[in-house]
Amino acid sequence: MKLPALPSAARFGRRFARRQLRLWELDELAEDVELVISELLTNAVRAALSSAGPLSQVLLRLRLTPAGVHVEVSDPDPTPPAPAAPTDLAEAGRGLALVAALSEEWGYERLATGGKTVWARHAPRPTRAERPRHPLS
Ligand SMILES: Nc1ncnc2c1ncn2[C@@H]1O[C@H](COP(=O)(O)OP(=O)(O)OP(=O)(O)O)[C@@H](O)[C@H]1O
Ligand SMILES: [Mg+2]
Repeated sequence: MKLPALPSAARFGRRFARRQLRLWELDELAEDVELVISELLTNAVRAALSSAGPLSQVLLRLRLTPAGVHVEVSDPDPTPPAPAAPTDLAEAGRGLALVAALSEEWGYERLATGGKTVWARHAPRPTRAERPRHPLS
């Protein structure tokens, strides 16, 4: 989904994700995925506005694979995301720390177009039937 680089991008992105996860019957991931999308889109919008100016766009993509739900947020700025050192967390840079905490893994890739994609992967939680049974139950 393409979104204009505006503060409203995060809200539209969360709504899009909630709907898609419901279609995939993965509602239990919605809370974490929505938070991650919020942080990644907020960063992407700021980067897009500072590098490409107003009227620029960011891109949100959700993919479902056997490895889980992949969130991909692209923006036109080549600068890579720079997570703050853990000791600085009280000050700023909480966004990427939250992304790291809520996802299985995250990273970024440069795009041929000059921008980049920041991604995070969420593993689907085991369903009740697949959860290991308590030995005494
Ligand atoms: N999409 C991006 N493009 C360019 N730089 C980015 C991007 N995302 C993050 N960064 C860089 O990484 C830094 C850390 O990002 P992070 O989201 O952790 O913190 P923040 O956005 O500065 O603050 P917070 O998210 O806590 O409001 C940012 O300050 C920015 O310099
Ligand atoms: Mg941030």
